[in-house]
Amino acid sequence: MQRLTRFDAEALDDSDPLTRWRSEFDLDGPGPIYLDGNSLGRPPAAVRRALSEGAEAWASELVGGWSHWIDLPLTVGDRLGRLLGAGPGQVAVCDSTTVNLYKLAYAAVASLPGRTSIVGDAADFPTDRYVLEGIASTFGRELRLVEGDLAEGLDARVLAKAVDASTALVCLSHVNYRSAARLDLPAVTEIAHRHGALTLWDLCHSGGALPIGLDEAGADLAVGCTYKYLNSGPGAPGYLYVNRALQGKLLQPVWGWFGQRDQFAMAPGYDPADGIRAYLAGSPPILGLMAVDAAVGVTEAAGVDKLWTKSQALTALLVRLVEERLRPLGARLASPASPDRRGAHVSVAHADAWRWCRALIDRRLVIPDFRVPDVIRLGPAPLYTTFAECFDAIERMEAVLTGGLSDDPPGAMPRVP
Ligand SMILES: Cc1ncc(COP(=O)(O)O)c(C=O)c1O
Repeated sequence: MQRLTRFDAEALDDSDPLTRWRSEFDLDGPGPIYLDGNSLGRPPAAVRRALSEGAEAWASELVGGWSHWIDLPLTVGDRLGRLLGAGPGQVAVCDSTTVNLYKLAYAAVASLPGRTSIVGDAADFPTDRYVLEGIASTFGRELRLVEGDLAEGLDARVLAKAVDASTALVCLSHVNYRSAARLDLPAVTEIAHRHGALTLWDLCHSGGALPIGLDEAGADLAVGCTYKYLNSGPGAPGYLYVNRALQGKLLQPVWGWFGQRDQFAMAPGYDPADGIRAYLAGSPPILGLMAVDAAVGVTEAAGVDKLWTKSQALTALLVRLVEERLRPLGARLASPASPDRRGAHVSVAHADAWRWCRALIDRRLVIPDFRVPDVIRLGPAPLYTTFAECFDAIERMEAVLTGGLSDDPPGAMPRVP
């Protein structure tokens, strides 16, 4: 097979139906190539507008604004839910992913008191493992963290062996943060249900990036963030999904006034509201919610199916370029080889990955990110990343390795790598 050329990448850009969305992002000027949309998405113009309009609304409406801001967690939740394949009344935008994970994992484990184990992924994002560790400790449950291949992800058959009649909860990331290994969400949900366990999905790396179909899969619970592929801004609120069939049966542990049936009655005891509202806790971050609303509007208008189609083409291009240009220089693919098992980013492992990543950033060539121990993640965002940028990024990565990294001091790992 002939090596890919820049001309091939440009041809893909020429037939890309999503090119017009690039103008929604302020991308003038040469600058480094941004390939970190899987960590923090770029700001769409609509989101910048929403944030400044939000600040104006705060100044003009003052406390009166709460009369219509108060329901934003649920109205924005319904809108976001459509992107996740969730019918209305099942998604709320609130708190961080970590806090939502805690609320739902706690509620799930408490709802099945006779069951003694919780199943997770040993290679999952730290917050997921830590939250499960804390909940297992609180309830005196056994935490079974299943080991898988770091690049290929969990093997469904190995996972299936860890789930049995003692399992209360199976809590996994749909797409792994380091490798982008993607689990078959309906199939794993089915395995859990066969044993009477509940599922809790972390959608941080799939929400807004690919079609998920939560209702269709019969998923029980899910959480995710809005600052990666959904471009809502640093620290924008997360979201949670509780299948309608479980609402009212699962009691979350943070008994705050936003989950109270009659919030302003200031009643002496806690009486949870009906429906998804019961999973709220305290005052929602209104400016963040306005950003999420606008950002979801952008993804909705572009179409998540189209975004996923382009994303798969972008990552396929990257994978081929990694094989052609970086493997001969000692790098290797650290994501699943099969597109059927991959999410929306591509990881590359190299013995000197940290220094390589620093050189790319310090020399203003490419902005990827580094994950311990030896992985550089390349996260193209189909709303604004071009195929030519992916080609150029790999060429720059190749040039840095070819030129040698020896002049770049390894540097101590900063607080944020
Ligand atoms: C898969 C996954 N889960 C959870 C989190 C934590 O999210 P937060 O810090 O918003 O709680 C992240 C953050 O990047 C993540 O990638």
